[in-house]
Amino acid sequence: MRCTVSTKVKLLFLSLLLILIWQTSLFYCENRCPIHENVAPIIIETSLSSTQLYSTTRSNLSSSPSTSSPAFMLTSKISKSKIIHAAVVLSLSKQTSHIAEFHLLYESWRFLQIFAPLSEQVIVDLIVFCEMPSCYQLPFTCIPISYGHKLDSIPRCFYEKLEPRIVWNWKDYLYMTSIAFMLTPQYQRATQNYRWILRVDQDAVLSPALLMGLARKHPVKLLDMQFGGIGHGTEFTNNRLRKIAQKLGYTHVGIHNLCSTWLVNPQDSIRIANLTTHIGRYLLQNEFGRHVPGIEDLPAIGEWPKWWRGVTSLYAGEIAINHIYSSTLSHQHGSTTLDHSADSQSSLWNAWHIHCLHNPTYFAKFQHRIDLFFFVHYFQASRIRTIKKYYSVELIIKRIINEFEDMYIRNENIQRTVTVRDYVTVLAWRKAYAATGAINL
Ligand SMILES: *[C@@H]1O[C@H](CO)[C@@H](O)[C@H](O)[C@H]1NC(C)=O
Ligand SMILES: *[C@@H]1O[C@H](CO)[C@@H](O)[C@H](O)[C@H]1NC(C)=O
Repeated sequence: MRCTVSTKVKLLFLSLLLILIWQTSLFYCENRCPIHENVAPIIIETSLSSTQLYSTTRSNLSSSPSTSSPAFMLTSKISKSKIIHAAVVLSLSKQTSHIAEFHLLYESWRFLQIFAPLSEQVIVDLIVFCEMPSCYQLPFTCIPISYGHKLDSIPRCFYEKLEPRIVWNWKDYLYMTSIAFMLTPQYQRATQNYRWILRVDQDAVLSPALLMGLARKHPVKLLDMQFGGIGHGTEFTNNRLRKIAQKLGYTHVGIHNLCSTWLVNPQDSIRIANLTTHIGRYLLQNEFGRHVPGIEDLPAIGEWPKWWRGVTSLYAGEIAINHIYSSTLSHQHGSTTLDHSADSQSSLWNAWHIHCLHNPTYFAKFQHRIDLFFFVHYFQASRIRTIKKYYSVELIIKRIINEFEDMYIRNENIQRTVTVRDYVTVLAWRKAYAATGAINL
């Protein structure tokens, strides 16, 4: 065929037309809202790589093969038998500040679900025993245990109403309800099939490193049982606890300063709760007051940090844990990965569980409450200005996801820059911004 000039021109126009159609179709496809954008707007905003990370957890609908790098193919198939089921359990009082703190815990629990493929291998459920009416202030996705509780391949949130009887029983020391709920048949039924129980207070925050810990992919070894290890007494306290244990016939093997968070199996969680409440009752009735030998010079409620009624449950827990595990307990069971302080400047990846203690510096739950009060009382325009100024939220979320990918997916030893403090602060403010947005404030 002879190629005339006019044929060449026609061919040129035809190919230009084809390119135009191609570009237009690309433009439309890319600007359509991909399905996953509705699901995880927070993540989509942060970075391209995090988009990929997230989309691999979704169906094929949302991920185009050309954008997912081979590293993310790790997700493929995790055999059912390899899935590790853990339950984070807690009781929630009706106190409004506690409910707000729980919502931070809830956000951190949701955040874990971004860390695929690990979040598909370690399924962490949330089980809340709530004092009415706080059950009605839980997120909508938390459903009653009675609506069909079973171990699933996706993490779920359940609740059960806390029996008023338990609150009544401990009205002179309400904190003990956060342990006593574990003695109910409902708790036993709900938790018996899990591999791990993480007992927490409502002012806890979960770290994505928890998934690594439970999957045994963390530098800190997962033991049969571990407890938060934070000092809450003096030598006077320790001596006194050993003497009381001896007096009551319990074995104390000298492991002190175990904190309120336990990571154990379900049967053990009930045993510890049983003995802790039992010893706790004894301590409250017999070991405080000016008539008690050895503490005559202290006020009736004791004196922090020597001997203080406010932490009776920790004293009781220490005696119970020392007795129950007397043949195996050692210092390594008091772990720095649990009850890690929320104002810690150490890497987020060193903490599995973070506790908002009475920190003097951010993240400090009391100071945050004050800041929030002012924030919601601003004029709307200044509130929006504040939100816009808080640019580091995205940056920090992006870094967390990148650090996870480098460490876990690419197996690279990287410099870890996000601190526990950064993580909790960003989570708390993002929660506040989302909540004000949700109620159109
Ligand atoms: C996704 O794609 C793979 C192979 O391309 C296929 O085996 C699998 O069934 C698909 N999954 C869904 C949910 O469509
Ligand atoms: C608690 O311990 C007591 C005494 O050992 C036992 O009778 C009781 O059944 C235990 N309760 C639970 C809930 O395990």
